[in-house]
Amino acid sequence: METPQYNTEIVKSFITWSLVWGLVALVVGMIISIQMTNPELNFPPYFTFGRLRPIHTNAGIYGWVVGVIFATFMFIVQRLCKVRIWSDKLATFQLYFYNVTIITAAVTLLLGYNTTKEYHELEWPVDIMVVLLWITFAINIIMTITKRKDEQMYISLWYMMAAIVGVAILYLVNAAAVPVSLFKSYSAFAGTNDANVEWWFGHNAVAMALTAPPLAMFYYFLPKTTGVPIYSHKISIIAFWSLIFMYLWTGAHHLLWTPIPDWIQTLAMGFSIMLIAPSWGSVINGYLSMKGQWHQMRENYLVKFLILGITFYGLQTLQGPMQAIRSFSAFIHYTDWVPAHIHMGTMGWVSMIAFASIYYMVPRVYGKEIYSIPLANLHFWLILIGQLTWSISLWIAGVMQAGMWNAMNPDGSLTYTFMETMVEMYPYWWVRTFGGAIFLSGVLVFVYNLFKTVRHGKNSLPETVIAKGRA
Ligand code: HEM
Ligand code: HEM
Repeated sequence: METPQYNTEIVKSFITWSLVWGLVALVVGMIISIQMTNPELNFPPYFTFGRLRPIHTNAGIYGWVVGVIFATFMFIVQRLCKVRIWSDKLATFQLYFYNVTIITAAVTLLLGYNTTKEYHELEWPVDIMVVLLWITFAINIIMTITKRKDEQMYISLWYMMAAIVGVAILYLVNAAAVPVSLFKSYSAFAGTNDANVEWWFGHNAVAMALTAPPLAMFYYFLPKTTGVPIYSHKISIIAFWSLIFMYLWTGAHHLLWTPIPDWIQTLAMGFSIMLIAPSWGSVINGYLSMKGQWHQMRENYLVKFLILGITFYGLQTLQGPMQAIRSFSAFIHYTDWVPAHIHMGTMGWVSMIAFASIYYMVPRVYGKEIYSIPLANLHFWLILIGQLTWSISLWIAGVMQAGMWNAMNPDGSLTYTFMETMVEMYPYWWVRTFGGAIFLSGVLVFVYNLFKTVRHGKNSLPETVIAKGRA
C-alpha cells in the first residue's frame, strides 16, 4: 500500500523551537530561584522577580509545553489518520506566528504589561494573537482528522480534540475584557465572579494543556515503543469522558476559604476527589499495558521516561485531590508546598512524556539513529534526581512554613513573625536551585544528544521509505 509522504519538516521545526523556549523557561526559572535566596539580584524595573516569574511560567507552559503539543500533534495526527497534514501553508504560518507570539509575549511581560490573571497575563492585543494562533492550529488538525483514511479514531485523537476545543473555550471566556488603551484592559467580570472564571480557566488549563495532550502522547508513544497494544481501549474511552466531564467543575478548589459561595467550593472539592478515578484509569491502563514487558524498563530508555512520567501523573492526581480538601488546603495553601506540586507535574509528568515523545520522533523524522543511548540514560537520571530534589525540598519547606504560620502562644498571639518564617526557608530554596541546576544539566545533555543525532547520527531509513517496503 502506498503510504502518504508526511510533512516531517513542520515536526522538526516545532521540536527545535519548543526546545529553544524550554531552555529559556529553565534559565529564567533558575534566575528567579536565585533571586529568592539573593534578593539583591533584583534589578528594577525589568530584571525583577515580579517581571521574570510570568516569563518563566509563560515560556514553560506556552513555549515549551505548547511547542511540544504542536510537534507531537502534527506527528501523531498524520500517522493515525494516514494522510498528510491538511495544509502545509497553514502549518508553516502557525510555526512563524507561534514564535512571533512568544517573543511578543516575553517582551510585553518584561515591559510590565500584565493583566495580573495568573497564566492569562497577556494583554488584549497579544491575547488576540494567541487566539489566531490556536485557530490556525485547530483548523489544520481538525481538517486532517475529517480527511482521515482510517475510520477508527484511536484514543489519542480524542484527547487531542478535547485539548483543542477545551483550550479555545477556556481562553476565550477568560479573555473577555474591556480595553482602555493599547496595553491596558479590565476584565469583563467583577469581583468574586472574576476570580471564579479565572480559576475555572486556570485549572482547566491544567486539564487541557498539561493533562489531555501528554495523555494523547502517552497513549500513542507507549504502545509504539513497547510494540504491544494498550491494555484496554474501553478503559481509555471511559476514563476520557469522565475526565473531561469532571475537570470542568473543579476550578474553585483554588478559591477555598475565600468569599465565593460555599456550595461552589464544596462542589469543586467533591469533583476534585472524584477525579482520582479517571486519572488513575489511565495510570492503571498504562501499567497493565506493561504486562509481560517490565523487562523493557531495563532495556529500553524510552519506556523508562514514559512509565516514570505516568507514575508522576498518578502521584500528582492523588496529591491534587488532597490539596482540594478544605482542611488540608487551610494548611498548605500559600505555602511552598504548592510550587512543589506544580513542578512534580511540569518537570516530572509533562516534561518526561515530552522528552520521550521527542526521542521517539527525532530518529523517524530525520532518518537517523539516536546518537547515544548512555547519554539518554544520563539525561533520564539527571532530570529524575533534579525534579525530586526540587519537589521534596519544597514539600518539606511548605509543611514547615505552614507549621510556623499556625504556631500560637498560650495568649493567642503568633509564635513567629512572618520574617522569621521566611528566614527558615532559605536552605530549602538553595536546595531547590541545586535541583533546578541538575534538571537543567539533564536537559542540556538531551539537547546535545539530539544535536549530535541530527548532525552525526548513523543513517537509518526514514519511516516513509520503510513503509513503502523499500527497506
Ligand atoms: C486530580 C487532579 C488534580 C487536582 C484535583 C489538583 C488540585 C490542585 C489544587 C487544589 C491546587 C491549588 C493548591 C493551592 O493553591 O492551595 C492545585 C494547583 C496547581 N496544580 Fe494541581 N491538581 C491536579 C493535577 C494536576 C496536574 C496533572 C498538574 C500538571 C502539571 C497540575 C498543576 C497544577 C498547577 C500549575 C497549579 C498551580 C496553580 C497556581 O498557580 O496557583 N495539577 N492543584
Ligand atoms: C530548572 C527548572 C526550574 C526551576 C529552577 C523553576 C523555578 C521556579 C520558581 C523559583 C518559581 C516561583 C515559585 C514561587 O513563586 O514561589 C516557579 C514557578 C513556576 N514554574 Fe518553574 N522552575 C523550573 C521548571 C519549570 C518547568 C519545566 C515548568 C513548566 C513546564 C515550570 C512551570 C512553573 C509554573 C507553572 C510556576 C508557577 C507556580 C505557582 O504558581 O506556584 N517550571 N518555578
